[in-house]
Amino acid sequence: MPPALFDWFVPCPRGLEVPLAAELAEIGQRHLGGASFKAGAQVPGGVHFKGGWTAGMAANLHSRIASRVLLKIAHGPYRSENDIYELAYQQQWEQWFTPNQTMRVDITAIKSPLRSLEFATLRVKDAVCDRLRELSGSRPSVDTQQPDVRVFAFLTINECTLYLDTSGDPLFKRGWRLDKGAAPLRENLAAGILRLTGWTPGTPLYDPMCGSGTFLAEAAQVALNIAPGVERRFGFEKLKQYDVNAWQKLKVAAVDAKRAARTSRADLQIFGSDISGDMLDKARANLDRAGLPDLSLKQVDARNMTPPTDAPGILVANPPYGERIEVRGRGPRGEIRDTGRGRRDRDEDDEAFTRAQPDPADTEFFISFGNALKQRFPGWRAYVLTSDRKLPGLMRLRESTKTPLFNGALECRLFRFDLIAGSVRNRPASQDAPREE
Ligand SMILES: C[S@@+](CC[C@H](N)C(=O)[O-])C[C@H]1O[C@@H](n2cnc3c(N)ncnc32)[C@H](O)[C@@H]1O
Repeated sequence: MPPALFDWFVPCPRGLEVPLAAELAEIGQRHLGGASFKAGAQVPGGVHFKGGWTAGMAANLHSRIASRVLLKIAHGPYRSENDIYELAYQQQWEQWFTPNQTMRVDITAIKSPLRSLEFATLRVKDAVCDRLRELSGSRPSVDTQQPDVRVFAFLTINECTLYLDTSGDPLFKRGWRLDKGAAPLRENLAAGILRLTGWTPGTPLYDPMCGSGTFLAEAAQVALNIAPGVERRFGFEKLKQYDVNAWQKLKVAAVDAKRAARTSRADLQIFGSDISGDMLDKARANLDRAGLPDLSLKQVDARNMTPPTDAPGILVANPPYGERIEVRGRGPRGEIRDTGRGRRDRDEDDEAFTRAQPDPADTEFFISFGNALKQRFPGWRAYVLTSDRKLPGLMRLRESTKTPLFNGALECRLFRFDLIAGSVRNRPASQDAPREE
């Protein structure tokens, strides 16, 4: 009998749907050894696919861009919270988990007419608990911090879809980051950006504001063929039924690949620098914990950066912005100030920082950064992620492309600058005014 096929939904940071779909197709080809995988629709914020358990587990283990991997349980129309309760009550949750396990329910809605999503969340939770209590005499308790099982409901204007999460902790948590530093990028956003740049292993890659080293770690793992999830556990491991044998095979192959990477002597051509020695220490600690070889990390003010290789490559950076973290070393050249202000831990759902107007010192920094790119990086392609749409103007550079991306709730642009010797289109200062998109 052929294995059961399920519907899966893989959410990702908005703007990364196309690279995620390409990545999932690759995972289907490379890691499923003939097990079924059928690409599905891309929708804002995620990608659907069809496949058996092996495909769902491989997506968890190998996707660098996914935020989670969700198993579709039910789909139906609704007009009220009671309809949602009924839909949830009818599902065979007892197939998947026991009343002794803890659970959490989350709801996402687009244009739902319901007055309280909190109440709808409670109704889903009640339905699952009522069903299990009626069948077994006891019900799961709720744990919002470290639940064994997560149920997601997605509401449109009149339809409700119920999903069982198979990831557990969100997939950007690779299991190796100890030192967050200030305002690190999520690993899955960094991995998606790397894919958007078209970077491939062997091409020089340089992050001149590398912070805790997220771009560098993601790139090194791609180059060394290390699965992003090899060091972590997944939610499906707590479910009653998943394909344990297939999981063992996938996991053993990923562990073997990581072991082989340790002895690799490949010259990765991945370089980082930052103005802060503290951040470089954090980056080193993170790379080490991720089992990656030493990369070249240098303490350099980005205004003074020089290409790390003779051959041109790809420069990628997310400079400090707004209140999250300040540009440092922005006084007179050589004067390095570290205010430490604006530092905060990242919170999965709390990234809506607003951009303050750039002050003259920021402007000076970005003009110098732009000059460094124009004067010293001919032949390179530079990609800069920022929530500041005026950044190309500040840098006196004209972007070749700009891709909208979301860093949590913060709407950003990934600007691409082609630094072709002698033909960079400079922008006069008068063009600094914001443009309509
Ligand atoms: C938004 S963080 C980058 C975070 C990084 N992508 C990560 O994931 O950890 C900006 C980084 O720029 C660095 N920075 C600030 N001013 C700088 C300067 N003048 N030259 C080089 N780096 C600078 C900060 O130390 C910080 O690490």
